[in-house]
Amino acid sequence: MTARERIAGNVAGYVDDRTGAAKWMKKNLTKVFPDHWSFLLGEICLYSFIILLASGTFLTFWFDPSMQEVVYDGAYAPLQGVEMSRAYESALEISFEVRGGLLMRQIHHWAALIFMVGIVVHLLRVYFTGAFRKPREFNWIIGVGLLTLGIVEGFLGYSLPDDLLSGTGVRIAEAIMQAIPVVGSYLSYFAFGGAFPGYAFIPRIYTVHVLLLPGIFLALITVHLMLVWYQKHTQFPGPGRTEKNVVGYPLMPVYMAKAGGFFFIVFGVTAFLGAVASINPIWLYGPYTPGQVSAGSQPDWYMGWLDGLVRMAPPLETHALGFTISWNILIPGLILPGIMFTLLALYPFIEQWATGDKREHHLLDRPRNAPNRTALGAMALTFTLVSLINGGNDIIATHFDLTINQMMWFSRIGVIVLPPIAFIVTKRICLSLQRADRELVLHGRETGRLVRLPHGEFVEVHEPITPEKAWLLTSHEQLAPLELPEFDQSGVRRPGALKNKIRNRISRANAVAVPKATESERKELEGHH
Ligand code: HEM
Repeated sequence: MTARERIAGNVAGYVDDRTGAAKWMKKNLTKVFPDHWSFLLGEICLYSFIILLASGTFLTFWFDPSMQEVVYDGAYAPLQGVEMSRAYESALEISFEVRGGLLMRQIHHWAALIFMVGIVVHLLRVYFTGAFRKPREFNWIIGVGLLTLGIVEGFLGYSLPDDLLSGTGVRIAEAIMQAIPVVGSYLSYFAFGGAFPGYAFIPRIYTVHVLLLPGIFLALITVHLMLVWYQKHTQFPGPGRTEKNVVGYPLMPVYMAKAGGFFFIVFGVTAFLGAVASINPIWLYGPYTPGQVSAGSQPDWYMGWLDGLVRMAPPLETHALGFTISWNILIPGLILPGIMFTLLALYPFIEQWATGDKREHHLLDRPRNAPNRTALGAMALTFTLVSLINGGNDIIATHFDLTINQMMWFSRIGVIVLPPIAFIVTKRICLSLQRADRELVLHGRETGRLVRLPHGEFVEVHEPITPEKAWLLTSHEQLAPLELPEFDQSGVRRPGALKNKIRNRISRANAVAVPKATESERKELEGHH
């Protein structure tokens, strides 16, 4: 034993004597994780969260969330002599006078954008592969909570510097609060500590942004990862992989090394972007004054869809009993997002209800083998994308020489018409891909080699696929539709008949599939070849 090994052994023994960690570590460090690139998406969220904590802590040393009015006298000449809040002034100081300050601000902002991209793409991976199915429904709900928190946290973050862009966003938030019937104006007065914009809002959201929400994030992410640990990770189907095992690499050393390396890749990309790509140049916007809005004001991308929905709403208002209800803000700003997030959170249960499949699933679905789910996802994505496009309607109009009216009508019609089209097209694509799989299993791979037979006919030679591939393409289960009884034995409608009818219908639509190639079909065709 070398001296170094002896020292390491002594330290490990010292810690183990006091914590009993060795047994626990031995058991857990050899835990096996399945390997697939898409499983790294959750890690991108985790690492950018860590980067956010570190860079955000740096910013707290110099940012001053105060609404005290000051006259700027700092390093950025164009704003000298301009009245502004201390919060804006301190954000300018970080950008121009604190060493490394602008880099940290930009890293923090880029990390937030990457964090949200990571969350959304991770969510899509979980959704399209069916990883949310039993027993992972709770983790899905926690995930939807993290997504919601992420949106709010990001919004509060870019509202802090009190520049003209952030103030414009806060003004919209105030309008959404006020649109709530009866209590709206009270709520807004409560949040702003008086009339908008007031002196209280920035200090308040600062506490929420740096203390409350990060705390909740930490707690939720911990539970999220503990659940992944306890329930084990799902895996894609493949030879040797079953609902009961996990095929992959042990945590130590393989996964640890990969994860550590991946952290530095994420950090490197974020730092690179922070160093070379300007983001949120607040000095160009100027300080916030309620009377001004700069042209081309855009929220960060994860808020864009909400802005887009509000922008496209027709001017609907009701005046009754001395109250005004602004439907044009209430519906796109609160009701629609409320419905969207509730449906998203409940989706695992909705699917269970529709398919009647309440079993555990640890093997993932290939998206084509769950056409209805995949098509629904494409439909939701299309809706969000059209809204997001409309969130940038002014910029798109000026860049592509369109009028704002053309953009508006494209979005208003598109947001209703395009999602169902996306559903139908995606479902057809899934079924076509299933048909292609079936062909592949039964007739093999097209080689592109043409051969002329003795009697003159030309045929293309097909090569049989490997048994592993054939297994992969045929191992999935094709669920039979539900047949819940609508009538009892004497032909009388049972209670709940309507519900059963609806479930039967949905499950029939769910079960539409191209029958996968069976073993006997394969055998039969082998004889023909
Ligand atoms: C702060 C945000 C989040 C972090 C840090 C995070 C982190 C992770 C990590 C590291 C994993 C394991 C690796 C992987 O499957 O990618 C995971 C799995 C999972 N996440 Fe997230 N996640 C976040 C948000 C979400 C969201 C928004 C959802 C869905 C609404 C979600 C649902 C799930 C589910 C169901 C699993 C288990 C997947 C499986 O076993 O295949 N997560 N998460």
